[in-house]
Amino acid sequence: MKIMVTGGAGFIGSALVRQWIAESDCTIINVDKLTYAGNLHSLADLQHHPRHIFEQVDICDVEGVEKLFRLHRPDAVIHLAAESHVDRSIHGPMVFIETNITGTAVLLQAARGYWNELSGEAKENFRFHHVSTDEVYGDLDWQDPPFTEETPYTPSSPYSASKAASDHLVRAWHRTYGLPVLITNCSNNYGPCQFPEKLIPLVILNALNHKPLPVYGQGLNVRDWLYVEDHARALRLVLAKGEPGRTYNIGGGCEKQNIQVVESICSILDRMKPLHSQSYHALITFVTDRPGHDRRYAIDASRIQQELGWQPLETFDSGLEKTVNWYLNNGDWVTNVQSGAYRGWLESHYRLPAGTIGN
Ligand code: NAD
Ligand code: TYD
Repeated sequence: MKIMVTGGAGFIGSALVRQWIAESDCTIINVDKLTYAGNLHSLADLQHHPRHIFEQVDICDVEGVEKLFRLHRPDAVIHLAAESHVDRSIHGPMVFIETNITGTAVLLQAARGYWNELSGEAKENFRFHHVSTDEVYGDLDWQDPPFTEETPYTPSSPYSASKAASDHLVRAWHRTYGLPVLITNCSNNYGPCQFPEKLIPLVILNALNHKPLPVYGQGLNVRDWLYVEDHARALRLVLAKGEPGRTYNIGGGCEKQNIQVVESICSILDRMKPLHSQSYHALITFVTDRPGHDRRYAIDASRIQQELGWQPLETFDSGLEKTVNWYLNNGDWVTNVQSGAYRGWLESHYRLPAGTIGN
């Protein structure tokens, strides 16, 4: 199979691409604009892999996207490309509107044109899988039951509102044009290669640099955490077996207050890389809360569990241990990201023009 993955140089996309190439004989067309969040260093192992074809394309570029469909003729699209950080969306919302909404519409239109011209099995088996977030459901009170696929959309931030809009577009292209779509809404991911603007990598790297560990408000907000490899497995399963037009929630069943997450990281580091004079816990610093901060997310993942047989393989403890270990052992990746040098990775490491990696 030939699968077009958008956002494959990002955190989740790169984990998905690595897993897919390692565990199947699929060819991946990796479409990524390489914004600040796109990092080909995360895919360094696939530099010369014959089944990894990288295309540096902006999903808002209509001609560029149409050309990709004509050139590569994918069997399926899995769409992860997005602006993904809530705090950035508060400071600069417009790029979220552009990429997450317009970009998704451009992809849907191109996929629809391509799919309309397919016939037989190729047409029947084609899928457009949209990767979304639990944040579209808004936030929960402490005692509320977790989000199901039927929970009404009440997004709070420009990020979650733009993702909600993109989900609506995907459903509209299914209902109106019959495009065979799948939607997944996942909880907070963590794991290797996550850009250190998100809570877990930020805390690990600040701790290693003996910097304050910023906890918004009182640290009581709750997120439902899922190890990125478990998300990638769920995405592959939904693409293979999900029912067109259907939505699947994905979550780890692992609710933690932010302060618990930060304390767990400190405890792991105290064990793995102890400081001489103090514990990492002493670096925890409570800072001004995020505006509009969602209190709690929690996912009811029973549909994907019962209908498709998915279960996460990692517990929070095992996944967090692996994650901290990865950041401790991948100093090159960390240094490149922290210095901004990864932005030149494409040119300096691959020494190839964009569009030829893997060929
Ligand atoms: P990320 O920010 O790490 O990666 C996003 C990728 O998209 C980057 O490689 C970036 O270069 C690329 N991109 C951005 N704008 C683009 C454009 N205009 N054209 C082409 N490529 C572009 O994000 P992530 O954490 O890997 O998230 C991937 C997807 O999963 C997103 O759609 C996000 O909403 C969703 N999601 C993320 C989480 C999470 O916890 N990280 C949870 C649920 C859902
Ligand atoms: P984040 O990783 O930005 O993901 P999201 O906002 O999509 O859930 O944040 C996770 C939680 O951690 C969220 O409740 C905000 C909080 N947080 C902090 O307390 N300090 C920080 O420095 C960051 C980045 C997040």
